[in-house]
Amino acid sequence: MNRITSFEQYLSEYKKSVENPEQFWSKQAEEFVWKKKWDKVLDWNFTEPNVKWFIGGKLNITENCLDRHLAERGNQTAIIWEPNNPNETGRKISYKELHSEVCRFANVLKNNGAKKGDRICIYMPMVPELAIAVLACARIGAIHSVVFGGFSFQSLADRIHDADCSIVITADGAFRGAKDIPLKSVIDEALQTCTSVKKVIVLKRTNTEIKMQNSRDVWWQEEIKKVSADFPAEEMDSEDMLFILYTSGSTGKPKGVVHTTAGYMVYVDYTFRNVFQYNKREVFWCTADVGWITGHSYLIYGPLLAGATTLMFEGIPTFPDAGRFWQVIDKYKVNIFYTAPTAIRSLEAVGLDFVKPYKLDSLRVLGTVGEPINEVAWNWYNENIGKEKCPIVDTWWQTETGGIMISPLAGITKTKPSFATLPLPGIQPVLLDESGKELLGNNVEGRLCMKFPWPGMIRTTYKNHQRCFDSYFSHYHGYYFTGDGCKRDENGYYRITGRVDDVIKVSGHLLGTAEIENAINQHPDIVESAVVGFPHEIKGWGIYAFAIDDHGRKDTDELKKEIIATVTKFMGAIAKPDKIQIVKGLPKTRSGKIMRRILRKIAEGDFSNLGDISTLLDPNVVEEIKTGRIN
Ligand code: PRX
Repeated sequence: MNRITSFEQYLSEYKKSVENPEQFWSKQAEEFVWKKKWDKVLDWNFTEPNVKWFIGGKLNITENCLDRHLAERGNQTAIIWEPNNPNETGRKISYKELHSEVCRFANVLKNNGAKKGDRICIYMPMVPELAIAVLACARIGAIHSVVFGGFSFQSLADRIHDADCSIVITADGAFRGAKDIPLKSVIDEALQTCTSVKKVIVLKRTNTEIKMQNSRDVWWQEEIKKVSADFPAEEMDSEDMLFILYTSGSTGKPKGVVHTTAGYMVYVDYTFRNVFQYNKREVFWCTADVGWITGHSYLIYGPLLAGATTLMFEGIPTFPDAGRFWQVIDKYKVNIFYTAPTAIRSLEAVGLDFVKPYKLDSLRVLGTVGEPINEVAWNWYNENIGKEKCPIVDTWWQTETGGIMISPLAGITKTKPSFATLPLPGIQPVLLDESGKELLGNNVEGRLCMKFPWPGMIRTTYKNHQRCFDSYFSHYHGYYFTGDGCKRDENGYYRITGRVDDVIKVSGHLLGTAEIENAINQHPDIVESAVVGFPHEIKGWGIYAFAIDDHGRKDTDELKKEIIATVTKFMGAIAKPDKIQIVKGLPKTRSGKIMRRILRKIAEGDFSNLGDISTLLDPNVVEEIKTGRIN
């Protein structure tokens, strides 16, 4: 497999990728097994948008993740699984075993009525069966839609409903730290409103008592006994959908980001091998849950395409204590470790006593993803975990980009704390000012956009192409707009400054303010609410909610507790507000639009420059909100 090995080579590959993108990407694509080679590399415009890669090609991604490796590394470990409880025995699954498990579960899916093109929702704990389920969907040509196990029934129901899923794959429960999360009962509640679902396949994991609904619910462990380990992979078109993954937008319900087969495959494989500089037989650990894009691309698909050993961890960084990550690194001699800045900041905050017992000498490369990493956290990671000998790759990308876009190549690109550094070959970022003018040269700051397609990019938002256009291609004609602000320094290095729209990055998770407000408004006493972010030392951003209580309740502490419980019930604990202020009114324009800019400033405690408030319907509310601000 070709891989960049020096900075000079990076520069020359970058140049080639811009001068002749089709030649560049077809060279990468030739490394794979195709049932039929493509006729044309690329067809695109960013005005509809319409983007197609490797047109006319036929393949199945699982043949490239599994079958292709059997001759050379059938007995090599594909997945190392570390359970939540360190006293429970983990698992090592070889490529041969994973291949047969995926084929068997593909047969289970077929036996339960799944067909090519069906949408299948996966709502599972971080156990090997989750990866098996994902790959089995791809094997039969069904489209997986994984929903993070931390989302609760309303968020889950919205996602199942939007994708019209016919099957749900879940477990009785999930172990997460000291908690036991009742996944199946959340599914039961969600399915009360989702009539498209005909079958629920349930893995027994926690032995929690659950209700099985006759004719709809079946046990994974029972079904798997009935089938063979033989399943020829379905032939897929390059542009057939591989998966849908929901991500929050600034308004309305979450968007079903659609990724297709060939382009996604070529892109995640290329970025995995080059960014992390993966060497044969190394152990790679990405701590993200498969419910997020990072888990899709760099826990499952990227590593398996590259024939790597990928580690999957069921638990949380602080259970049974805050040394768990470091203990697991020593236990399996992890070489490459990829995590989120929030995890680093929270482990930094508990002190070095949790790090000292561990050697961490197997580590070669460290990575971060999902949110800006501040300099202090970067330095702590570098000194205490990497012992100043592991390059840190600060990888910038998005659910919509499919794979890493701007990042150092480990050990090749000179790093700079808080900078994602340079675009990968094939990626053409630009910074635009608010009017859409390209900011040329260095030492500039603007909105981060892309001016040319890459194979791993979003193709559409499920069943709603207009929304894809509106969200990403309508702001600046002819560009893909990322929603991020960004600086380019004197050396051309990129530093992401954060979101410029109404979504909040809480602990690296993208949450839509509208979705949180909907959950808060489920409380019977709340008539309206507005949610904004505020800077938070550990989580990056915290959630500040302003809520109007219709009933004038005296005990606001009790009311706030109830609001938190409501959000947890409808959306999930990840969306719990950190601060709730009960208010009489919200700052609205005469046309009824909430002026979030004012709320954001107040949440941050910055009362200067609130701007012109005279256009508000009732300017007095601003004073009241300022007075009641929660510190
Ligand atoms: O704001 C950027 C931030 O995360 C957003 C994408 O979130 P999501 O789709 O959930 O995907 C996260 C995992 C790829 C971006 O628009 N972000 C991601 N990586 C970085 C980052 N911000 C700063 N630095 C990063 N390395």
